[in-house]
Amino acid sequence: MVRKPVILITGANGEIGHGLIDHLVRQTQYGIVALDLKPLDESLHKYCTAALTGDILDQNLLQRLISEYEIHAIYHLAALLSTRAEFTPDTAHQVNVEGTLNLLKLAHEQSRWHGNPVKFLFPSSIAVYGLPNLKIKKIAGKIKEYQYNQPTTMYGCNKLYCEQLGRYFTMHYRQLAAEGHCSGVDFRAVRFPGLISAVTLPSGGTSDYAPEMIHAAAQGQPYPCFVSEEAQIPFMAMPDGIKALVQLADVSADRLSQRVYNVGAFSVTARDIRDRVLLAFPGAEITFNPDTAREGIVSTWPADVDDSLARQDWNWQPDYDADRAFHEYLIPMITKYYRSKLA
Ligand code: SER
Repeated sequence: MVRKPVILITGANGEIGHGLIDHLVRQTQYGIVALDLKPLDESLHKYCTAALTGDILDQNLLQRLISEYEIHAIYHLAALLSTRAEFTPDTAHQVNVEGTLNLLKLAHEQSRWHGNPVKFLFPSSIAVYGLPNLKIKKIAGKIKEYQYNQPTTMYGCNKLYCEQLGRYFTMHYRQLAAEGHCSGVDFRAVRFPGLISAVTLPSGGTSDYAPEMIHAAAQGQPYPCFVSEEAQIPFMAMPDGIKALVQLADVSADRLSQRVYNVGAFSVTARDIRDRVLLAFPGAEITFNPDTAREGIVSTWPADVDDSLARQDWNWQPDYDADRAFHEYLIPMITKYYRSKLA
């Protein structure tokens, strides 16, 4: 039986998955297999060889995947985000850590079958950082990958550990085996800032206040923001998020000086976002009603990241700074999106 060569995308129905499928279909020679807990959006079906509904913890499903497809790359996007993970830490650990381990093992097995490396793209996060207090956050400025790796959330701990697991599979797998052992997994991760998409809303994240504020305004709905005006973290427009993942996937392995990279775009406070939203939607009703606990999480995340290694190793450069993100992507696309929904 000939198995079809494909790229596997887990969490395909999520925010990154939407943009990624749309992008990959235009550039890959492989088919796309989408996997998600929820049925894939109708609009994406036409791009996929298969759209499977199921759980990355389901071994039978993973075995079925192995028997039907020859997997050459995995974009492992499935995860419980930071706010949701605090409510169900055990489930978060299962999905975010055990699920990732399942997929790393699957990548290893696939590489043994077809004899080529399997690229494993992993969206990590600024949540791996844990700044001890606002004073230090302020003086720390743009932080480097190895600084402040003391996350305070379950999600951050999960992401940080999975970065290490991926690095282990790629560089040190079974290092004591008689003849050394190469896992065949080529793991690469980007630590994303808060991502903002014009067409989808995140769910269960702590950086969600930014996209929620913009989408509420576009729909004429009031928005009580759950962090204070001063809260500041880096953000990125979704097209840049897709670009970072795809660019990192494409670069040759010998150019990578590390396996995990910061990627930055722009850093803004919640007030900055409100002001930009008000310029576009002057009638928007935005109030600040901070939830101390959620704001506490945002306070531990850096105000900005130093992404000079990504720039140096694989020419990372965002297309969207704050002005372009709002004026050329978010505001026009969101306006169009909700208009077409109303029409
Ligand atoms: N956006 C994510 C969250 O808020 C962080 O990576 O959980």
